[in-house]
Amino acid sequence: MSKEKQPPAGRVIIPYGRSLMSLVAAHSLARQNIEVIGCDDVDFTVLSFSRYTSHNFVHANHDEEPEKFLDDMEKNIRKYKPEDDRPYILMPMFRETVLLAENKDRFAGLIEIAAPDGASIGMVSPKHKLVDTARDAGAAIPETRQPRDLDDFAAMLDDIPLPAVIKPVDGVGGRGISFCKTKEELDKGYRKLAGKETIMPLIQEAVDGSDYCMTGLFRDGELLAHMAYTNLQTFPKESGAGVMRETVEDDLFAEEVRKLMKPTGWTGVAEIDFRWTGKQEDRPKLIEVNPRFWAGLFQSVDSGVDYPWLLYQMIVTGEVPEHQEAEIGHKTRVPGFWAAEALIEAFDEEKDFSRVSAAWRKVKATFSDHQYQDTVKYLGALFSEATNLDDAAFVLKDRFHSAREAESELQLKKDPMTSLGVFYVLGSLIRHGKLPPEIKG
Ligand SMILES: Nc1ncnc2c1ncn2[C@@H]1O[C@H](COP(=O)(O)OP(=O)(O)O)[C@@H](O)[C@H]1O
Ligand SMILES: [Mg+2]
Repeated sequence: MSKEKQPPAGRVIIPYGRSLMSLVAAHSLARQNIEVIGCDDVDFTVLSFSRYTSHNFVHANHDEEPEKFLDDMEKNIRKYKPEDDRPYILMPMFRETVLLAENKDRFAGLIEIAAPDGASIGMVSPKHKLVDTARDAGAAIPETRQPRDLDDFAAMLDDIPLPAVIKPVDGVGGRGISFCKTKEELDKGYRKLAGKETIMPLIQEAVDGSDYCMTGLFRDGELLAHMAYTNLQTFPKESGAGVMRETVEDDLFAEEVRKLMKPTGWTGVAEIDFRWTGKQEDRPKLIEVNPRFWAGLFQSVDSGVDYPWLLYQMIVTGEVPEHQEAEIGHKTRVPGFWAAEALIEAFDEEKDFSRVSAAWRKVKATFSDHQYQDTVKYLGALFSEATNLDDAAFVLKDRFHSAREAESELQLKKDPMTSLGVFYVLGSLIRHGKLPPEIKG
């Protein structure tokens, strides 16, 4: 048999290249011989240096400059379009997904956008839309009220069961959410929140229990692949790397999700937040639908549900292989620790390090003396104790340990120079087994 490498089966553009979820997706596709191109609104991302990517580009921020973002995407999509008719797919990862989904028409004939339709997303978000859709579909949702105005709120105040949760209809990352135990708290809290929002906020029954993340791949609203996990709250300090996430049975979540998603005609992935007591006799309650990949994508893939590859196959052939249950009870460690390991794996080749060190030399030339000294000092302080890879992994683990959920996924945006420096240090440890001379100090 010939050992020659087959030409890539397809080409996929993966945004949000700074995140580890994008690194997971790139890995998932690259091992199926699919060519991956990374992008982000910052340079020197983990994906830009990864062995899983062939090219990388930088675009405008989707939130701050949506039009420029779409223009930049289109320009690069044209630039990297394969000459032949192999599959060419843009696979949105995180918060850029909605804008891309809403602008699918613009890219028709140019590239497939692997996101649900804007109309499907509009049935589950903002959150008051989710409430309507879930009620119509008979899916379990916390008892929810949305006062028409503050007079309406005053009229219902005495009837609202406590404790209650108030939340903006379009919050992300917990923004604006609060728990109210007393009528006074609710009255004050709601008025204050309503004063800041353009759409009247929701008041929900506070559901007992804990948070669960249900993840799924859908075609025309049909659930084709799925798994659920919990974020474990405890980090055992003594035993080193703590447990972060655990894969759990998802039958009860799947039941609600099937009902909810059917009428939306969803085609693509979604992560659905639930709150549940953990008792078989209680129905889990739907909290939120996120129309995109999730921070715990690694957990899903590591538990046996390889979503990026499944999504790719669905887009290309219309089919996905028969669903295989995820490995229940599978646990993964804190993201920082995994981050370090994933980075190390992604740099485990000579050419990856040459890319990093070439970038480092180039950027160094543009540093002012002052900037350069600052960065080196910072890296020196961060890694001075690290004489080998294991130590460096631990430093990174500590560094990212306290970061929260999605934000934890390697947030180096504010300082791309530092992230480049981190890769440079890691690369040097991998290739030469020692710190680069300028960091050693
Ligand atoms: N009705 C509720 N009862 C109990 N906890 C809730 C409720 N709604 C939200 N929460 C808690 O707040 C968190 C964030 O709520 P969510 O609606 O998902 O907002 P965000 O979009 O900011 O993530 C949830 O993960 C859950 O822990
Ligand atoms: Mg949420």
